[in-house]
Amino acid sequence: MKILVLNGSPKKKSDTFRLTDAFLKGLNHDNKHEITVIDVINKKISPCRGCFGCWQKLEGHCVIADDQNEILDLYGDSDIIIWSFPLYCYGMPSHLKAVLDRTIPLVKMKMVQLPDGTVRHEALADFSKIHTVVISGCGFPDWEGNFDALKLMCKNCFGNLSMVCVPETPMLNVPEAAIVADPLLNRFRKAGEEYEATLTLSAETIAELERPMISAEDYIRNVNRN
Ligand SMILES: Cc1cc2nc3c(=O)[nH]c(=O)nc-3n(C[C@H](O)[C@H](O)[C@H](O)COP(=O)(O)O)c2cc1C
Repeated sequence: MKILVLNGSPKKKSDTFRLTDAFLKGLNHDNKHEITVIDVINKKISPCRGCFGCWQKLEGHCVIADDQNEILDLYGDSDIIIWSFPLYCYGMPSHLKAVLDRTIPLVKMKMVQLPDGTVRHEALADFSKIHTVVISGCGFPDWEGNFDALKLMCKNCFGNLSMVCVPETPMLNVPEAAIVADPLLNRFRKAGEEYEATLTLSAETIAELERPMISAEDYIRNVNRN
């Protein structure tokens, strides 16, 4: 399978990407797959201009001549797309959001209403084979609502979606926290194997991946000590 990974952390040592890397190791345990990782922060991708020039041409490309068209080509050709990024202000980092906004050339103006009442644009080609994984890390301990806005956006934007939202991810780059971080990385590796076999993640697996490494009280106490 062709796997496209969009790494949306601007950092060289991304907390979230440690999880994604473990997941990829499980997913590609037998070295069968073709994985392309794009560090979005190093690409030149301007914000969408809202001109809808793409809908006049309907060629699956954006009228802005920058690195987004290379991503669009990979996008349409992928079996799995993994969005890996930190939660920023309850959503995606802005440079990655620009990539998402500029996937609009992959749909047409024509609208369709789905049986559940939601409305979408008709796709330019059959992208129904594409499976999406979202792995998002965040700096807060687990609290209900932190990921709500992101979850709604991803549910509306992505097909065949498996989404994992992980609290306390800065701990992944703290050597003293390895005793709780390493088991989580192992769970991500196993989840990658499950995903390769089933192209989905069970509710039990997602709950295991999202389980906080330590309690909210301990996490807040540790953060506030610094
Ligand atoms: C601009 C900015 C906004 C952030 N917003 C949130 C937020 O809304 N909720 C949260 O829990 N963490 C938030 N964080 C913390 C990051 O999600 C956290 O540090 C994460 O572990 C960074 O992951 P990375 O190393 O993969 O980039 C924010 C961090 C920054 C820099």
